[in-house]
Amino acid sequence: MSPLPFPDPVGTGSSRPLRVAVVLGTRPEAVKLAPVVRALDAAPGFESLVINTGQHREMLDPMLHRLQLTTHHSLEVMRDRQELSALTARLIEGLGEVLRYEEPDLVMVQGDTSSTLCGALAAFYERIPVAHVEAGLRSGVLDNPFPEELNRRLVSKLTRWHFAPTERAGAELRAEGIPADNVHVTGNTVIDNLLWVRHRGVGRSAFRTGRRGVLVTLHRRENQGDRMRAMAATLLRLARRGDVEILLPVHRSPAVRDVLEGALGHDPHITLTEPLDYFDFTASLAACELVLTDSGGVQEEAPSLDKPVLVLRTTTERPEVVTTGAARLVGVDPEHIHTEANNLLDDPALYQSMAEAPSPFGDGYAARRIVTRLAEDSAATPVSAPAFPTVPHAISLADW
Ligand code: UD1
Ligand code: UDP
Repeated sequence: MSPLPFPDPVGTGSSRPLRVAVVLGTRPEAVKLAPVVRALDAAPGFESLVINTGQHREMLDPMLHRLQLTTHHSLEVMRDRQELSALTARLIEGLGEVLRYEEPDLVMVQGDTSSTLCGALAAFYERIPVAHVEAGLRSGVLDNPFPEELNRRLVSKLTRWHFAPTERAGAELRAEGIPADNVHVTGNTVIDNLLWVRHRGVGRSAFRTGRRGVLVTLHRRENQGDRMRAMAATLLRLARRGDVEILLPVHRSPAVRDVLEGALGHDPHITLTEPLDYFDFTASLAACELVLTDSGGVQEEAPSLDKPVLVLRTTTERPEVVTTGAARLVGVDPEHIHTEANNLLDDPALYQSMAEAPSPFGDGYAARRIVTRLAEDSAATPVSAPAFPTVPHAISLADW
């Protein structure tokens, strides 16, 4: 293993709390980092410092409140229809300033957004070691999803602790030459959060009618434009079955809004809403029959609630969910999406086999495993977490 290019303050034997700067800027980062912040705050010897880049505004602020996350710094980088290059420049500059001011011992990032990449890069520039949550996801195609596949590969180059959500993700990292000692399979923290919400028992489904619920989310950059227009036409066709209600909380991106609201705003069988509060979204997920999505987080949550997922993309970095049978990668061809959705709605045996497939994303202890590992590598007081289950975990929250 080549030595880290900077001094590693973790392991110095210092008795002061280990200060972990947690960088987040979008909705999924808040969902997946909230359990880690909670675990850090509950563990002796750690201090968390949440840096909100503000990459998302309307979709993130209510989320932070609902997940009881306190922000220590807010950068407010979001602009309407932001370009990746300008967003990246604002993020790097702002994060660099905060890190120089706070001098944390470690920077934690999650996933593959622009905030993730810039958090890791700014930390590298300040010679602060990086921990990456949900490391090792790979679609194998550099520009799909765009730009997330590149982001996650770059972040892996900058990371000291790689927290992989599944055995496969861990194997991807080791195959790329990352030392096995730096790769830790923990499960996905998204499941920790689902359990946390469930124990709070709140949230109202946004379905309005008693028809069969189809929950849809769409936002990926590679699906925008003509592709999204064609998908909207397919949703209209599906709605004409007459026995379903399609619920679609519309992402705040204008590139998504303009298309979906224009195409679907007036159909009585389609319910368009603002992005839902996380508690209401998970309640809607629990209430639906079927999920159509291009979201990463949603395809992880749905199998835990025994809901079959059709993934509206051409590649996946989560093949485990296809292998277990909980999801199908149906691509972006409108005719094929229509056929697959109808098949699931009309074939009870097929539906049952997908609904019963186990979730491969862990058991709800991912955040504790992450903090345990950091404690083991530092002077912090040890904390413990159960071993990662070796078989796909059959956690089912279907009785939500
Ligand atoms: C980003 C992430 C993507 C993630 C998604 C989660 C990048 C490059 N992409 O995509 O990986 O899956 O978030 O949702 O980091 N907007 C608002 N209000 C908001 C949020 C967004 O108005 O609360 C609008 C703005 O006009 C903004 C645009 O949406 O310019 C796009 O936001 P951006 O964060 O650049 O990309 P997403 O498509 O949201
Ligand atoms: N989500 C939400 N309200 C919504 C839609 C999604 O709270 O109206 C949550 C969802 O439960 C999941 C996360 O947002 O945890 C996924 O975010 P998104 O699809 O924007 O990003 P991705 O996971 O694809 O990066």
